[in-house]
Amino acid sequence: MTKGIILSGGFATRLRPLSCVIPKTLIPVVNKPVIERQILLLKSAGVREIVLAVSVMADLVKKHLGNGEKLGIKIEYTDEKNPLGTAGAIKLAEDYLKDDDFFILNGDVIFNFDFKEMIQAHDRYKGLGVIASKIVPDPSRYGVLIVEEDTNKILKFLEKSEYTPPDGKNIPMPINAGVYLLEPDIFQYIKPNKKVSIEHDVFPILVSEEKLYHYSIPGIWKDIGKPEELLEGNIQLMKDILKNLKEKKENLIDENLDIEGKALIYPPVTIGKNVVIKKNCRIGPNVIIGDNVYIGANTEIKDTLIYNEAYISKNIKCEKAIIADNCLLHDGVQLVGNNQNLVILSSFVEVLDNVKLIAPPNSSLTVCHHDVVRLDVS
Ligand code: GTP
Repeated sequence: MTKGIILSGGFATRLRPLSCVIPKTLIPVVNKPVIERQILLLKSAGVREIVLAVSVMADLVKKHLGNGEKLGIKIEYTDEKNPLGTAGAIKLAEDYLKDDDFFILNGDVIFNFDFKEMIQAHDRYKGLGVIASKIVPDPSRYGVLIVEEDTNKILKFLEKSEYTPPDGKNIPMPINAGVYLLEPDIFQYIKPNKKVSIEHDVFPILVSEEKLYHYSIPGIWKDIGKPEELLEGNIQLMKDILKNLKEKKENLIDENLDIEGKALIYPPVTIGKNVVIKKNCRIGPNVIIGDNVYIGANTEIKDTLIYNEAYISKNIKCEKAIIADNCLLHDGVQLVGNNQNLVILSSFVEVLDNVKLIAPPNSSLTVCHHDVVRLDVS
């Protein structure tokens, strides 16, 4: 029976400060940790046992997911004292995974496709494994796959640093989507107890031996490694979920929402449990609000993620922002990002009355957890 391993032990440096207090895989996407969404998709394809390759903040992941009973799947954990790289982490799970083919998932990607189709693709190709691919308009940010179109064999696997777009211009190309289905023979290619990267050190060898194929995944795909991608990934997934709910005439707004007259909601919007929205607010489009959030009167929010337990006072403006859990925004605060850059508040941040935080044109504006912001910043 196919098993799975999810990689959840990296340092997540590009997602700081959000990832300083919570491992990247527990960060919510549309109000559910990204790793839970992945586990549920594996489960719906018949996977009953998975290993979580944890290292950085391992205890938080273990505490949240335990033995998997809550999600109806069996979860084991590897014991990786220091991060061993993506392949080193997989090698540690050899005893769990050595009997059958298994999925490997980077724990920081969002998608919504049927894994059974990937199993069928692997059965057809009969290689050592299949890499899920996605055609993206900006391939130079990812590992690029050069593929043989009629067989789907991967001819070259180029890491970010090795790929130069033709004439310096990005053209859509299939990239490594961070989801693999591999045979246990893979373990022969990974040295034990060493830091090894599957992308740098293992896949190029398998490609040179003509053993890897690709499977182009349907639907949405987003790597949430950076804050802008996290916001964009949440929005894409929300729209995808809503598309399916529309047929059932359901939405993502909790039915007990406490909303005062004249507050307006512009879809797509997600609202969790026990949320209060006071009068004359304008919420949306592209807003995701967690549980136990208060939003005071005359507040405008769009293109923004708000995690659980936030208190947002009155007369506030939030645009292109991420507000982590337990933040407190006093009256008249403004958080304004732009197309490329966000305003990001990590957990337990307090922003005092009338402070304006405006992202500069070339970088996001971040506030570390537990900070109190008293002055305007841009
Ligand atoms: P950055 O530091 O921002 O690059 O993030 P990262 O450390 O998460 O690295 P990357 O995005 O390349 O990792 C892809 C996936 O592999 C993520 O789910 C990581 O948690 C996981 N990962 C990366 N390195 C390791 C490792 O050494 N051990 C384990 N167990 N997982 C890892």
